[in-house]
Parts: sequence; C-alpha cells; structure tokens
Amino acid sequence: MAVITNIEDLKRIYERRVPRMFYDYAESGSWTEQTFRDNSSDFDLVRLRQRVAVDMSGRSTASQMIGQDVAMPVALAPVGLTGMQHADGEIKAAQAANDFGVPFTLSTMSINSIEDVAEATGRPFWFQLYTMKDTDYISRLIERAKAAKCSALVITLDLQILGQRHKDLKNGLSAPPKLTPRTIANLMTKWAWGIEMLGAKRRHFGNIVGHVHGISDTSSLGAWTAEQFDPSLDWGKVEKLMEQWGGKVILKGILDAEDAKMAAKLGADAIVVSNHGGRQLDGALSSIRVLPEIMDAVGSDIEVHLDSGIRSGQDVLKALALGAKGTMIGRAFVYGLGAMGQAGVTKALEVIHRELDITMALCGEKNVANLGRHNLLVPEDFGGRWA
Ligand SMILES: Cc1cc2nc3c(=O)[nH]c(=O)nc-3n(C[C@H](O)[C@H](O)[C@H](O)COP(=O)(O)O)c2cc1C
Repeated sequence: MAVITNIEDLKRIYERRVPRMFYDYAESGSWTEQTFRDNSSDFDLVRLRQRVAVDMSGRSTASQMIGQDVAMPVALAPVGLTGMQHADGEIKAAQAANDFGVPFTLSTMSINSIEDVAEATGRPFWFQLYTMKDTDYISRLIERAKAAKCSALVITLDLQILGQRHKDLKNGLSAPPKLTPRTIANLMTKWAWGIEMLGAKRRHFGNIVGHVHGISDTSSLGAWTAEQFDPSLDWGKVEKLMEQWGGKVILKGILDAEDAKMAAKLGADAIVVSNHGGRQLDGALSSIRVLPEIMDAVGSDIEVHLDSGIRSGQDVLKALALGAKGTMIGRAFVYGLGAMGQAGVTKALEVIHRELDITMALCGEKNVANLGRHNLLVPEDFGGRWA
C-alpha cells in the first residue's frame, strides 16, 4: 500500500474509492467556487517565521476548546452525509476522534443518528443544529441531543438558505444514491464501498427519517429538506435556541466582526469563523483573511475557532497564531474516512498533528498556547474593510 504522508494522499485514495456523487458533494464549493479556492490559497499567503537555537524539547499540542481538554485544538466539523462516504461513517469518525482526544461534531444531516453515535461511542460529542421551520421537530432534536449527553450545541448560522453547487444538482445527489444508468455504471467501479454499505446500520438521514411526521422515504425527504431550512432565523431565535439547550453553545458560520459581536453579546461559549468550506456565499472572503479583524473585535470577549480550508498542521498553526483557540476540519477528515474508514480519520489526525508539532518546533515554540502574531508574516490587506 502507498505510504500516506499528507492529506492529499488520502484525497487521492478517497477519489478512487467513493462513488462520484459523494466525492463531488464534498469536493465542491458553491457557484464559481471562488471562495472555496481562496480558503486554501489565502493560507499560503501567510508566512511563518523560522527561529533557531531554541530548546524545543518537551513540546505539547494539548489545549482546551470550550473548556474541554483536547490533544490538539482541532475538532471534526459537522459534515452532512458522512455515512455515505463510508458505511457507518459518523460512528467511525467519532470513534477515531475519541481515540485521538479531539471533539467530534455530528451534523443534523447525518446518516447515523444522534442515538446511534451515542450508543456506539459512549462518549459525549458535539451536536450541530440546523434551524428548520418545523419548530416541534427542532425542539425534539434538541431534547434528543440533551438525552444523548452531547457536550455542546453547534448552531450553524450560515445556511438559512442553501447555496447552490452545480454538481450536486447534475448528479441528482441523494442518500442512498438513486439507481440511474449513470450511477449504476459508477457504482460498479466502487465495489468495496458498496459491500461495506450493505452492512451499514443506516443508509438514509438518521436524525430525520422516522422523527418527522410524513417522512418515511428519501424522495419526500429531499423535498422536505429543501423547504425546511428556516429563512426567518434571526438573533432572537438564536437566543431562544440557546435558552432551550441550556448548555455550551458554539455559533458557527460567522464571517463578519459585527456578527461576531452579536454572538459574544448573546453569551455563546465560542464562535466558528467559517464560510462553510466555500459552500454558501460564493465571493465571500476566506476565513483566515477575516480572522484578524474578528479577533480585534471580539478576541477578548469570546473563544474563537476557525474552519474552512485547513488541509495541514501548518494551516492549523497559522489560525492559532492569529488568535484562534481552536480549529475545525471538514474535508480533511472526510478524505481519510472515504479512503480507509476509521483508520483513515485517525491517519488524517496523525498527519495534521505531526505537521503542527514539527512546524511549531521550527518556529521555535514548545506549546500551542505560546503561538502568536510574532510567528507570522501576514499580508497587509488581511482583515478586509467594509465601507
Ligand atoms: C461535504 C460537506 C458537508 C457539510 N455539511 C455540513 C453540515 O451538515 N452542517 C454544518 O454546519 N456544516 C457542514 N459543512 C461545513 C463544515 O462543517 C465546515 O464548515 C467546512 O467543511 C470547513 O471547510 P473544510 O472542508 O475546507 O475544512 C459541510 C462541509 C462539507 C465539505
């Protein structure tokens, strides 16, 4: 087997192994994919300051995110349809995260349900909430997450309306895949994926099917999800959701200093500076570019995490040095999961950890808490200015 040394290696195996429809689902951004591309290329614009002859023994990447101990400040981001990338994908990813000592976030749009993951892992995880028009359903979902002892509610704010990804429409994305001549031809080349999927606990949206009146198959589900995201979500509704939850809350999808201030004012435990991995507002700035401005606005009031575009430990280090207390990875762990199941997620975490540790050492730092602006050269126009 090929030696895997970086996230790109996992991506190459992932592309070969997973049906095209699900590869395209993960590997796309909205519309022209400008923001999707910028998320990665802007990380490259930030340069690292090399230091030498500094005692680098006894290094540690251990830290805390929302008061929880983490082996490194990298959580697995909520990713819909993870259980289509690999059989029981959410359970596998959660187990890898637990073993590594980093948080796992379960998406509302997961295949394995909240209860499946709680039962299989026996450990608290974070639950991500999409707000929907069906308020009874949302209340029940919150209660289910409480009953499963989820340790944080991650409320995603940047998907009141769904961004458009061309490939998903053209591929007729569905879970499980609809059997058209084109998908059948593609599935025949993905037999290992298919055999594993035959033994999967679930092949449809586990948090929804059976929990919403009238939803029993995937075709009605498709129509339901398209209609159900709540376009009227506002800060008042966010506050009510936070009250109902009553535990730790992370507000995800913040890209503007004014919104970050609102999140801090509401008393959230953390925000995730994120553009949803370039899947929502095409043309929005990359997360790493807006991070300095957001840190200046709220850095002393609220814990700040960042995602979108992280593919290496160097990227993690840059986010931390710019002030983030934690990061999330989406695609980087999905590549590992699709490539090799649980072992692949572990591999992705090991790769990123090793890169973070070595980069930290070569920057002359022994501890992630000591990283700061002094480690970086940042382009002057980072931060952006709105009239
Ligand atoms: C395939 C895919 C599905 C996603 N599904 C969700 C979701 O269900 N809920 C959510 O809050 N974010 C979702 N996201 C966004 C991720 O949580 C995260 O913000 C993003 O992946 C970070 O960018 P990265 O993939 O470059 O690391 C999804 C991202 C991808 C790639």
